[in-house]
Amino acid sequence: MAQAFSPQADAEIEAILQRYPNRLAALIPTLWVAQREFGWLAEETMELVATRLDLPPAKVISTATFYTMFHKKPVGRYHVQVCKNISCYLRGSDEVTAAVKQKLGVAPGQTTADGNFTLEEVECLAACGRAPVVQVNADYHEWQTAESVVALLDRLAAGDTSGGV
Ligand code: FES
Repeated sequence: MAQAFSPQADAEIEAILQRYPNRLAALIPTLWVAQREFGWLAEETMELVATRLDLPPAKVISTATFYTMFHKKPVGRYHVQVCKNISCYLRGSDEVTAAVKQKLGVAPGQTTADGNFTLEEVECLAACGRAPVVQVNADYHEWQTAESVVALLDRLAAGDTSGGV
């Protein structure tokens, strides 16, 4: 069955279109809505966005593929992004990544078999003063260590999102 936006998502896109001066300016916020709705941006999803905004599919695809924040393949329930840039690196991001790899049994770019966690190494998350930084979905976890990141993963695996995801 072809993808379709839920009535709520469609209303949100309509509100976005009212806020922006033209349809192209509404593209990135609409891609956010689409990613939240479908979990990632399949080609079919990008075509749906193109149709909804009446933009050329190539424009939508080139925009979505330019930004790393848009997922071009499925990610786990928790998208664990470890910053590997200079401030985080100097303060031990390698150990944080190694701890996540060992804990989850996946390499960067991979998702655990249960579909819960995807690990990724990313460039600067713009919170360098609180390095090393790990972003899980939309939430930042700062001043991470090998021990604290494992505790974070344990908490999330147990379904405890009270401290953010
Ligand atoms: S270097 Fe990691 S947040 Fe900037």
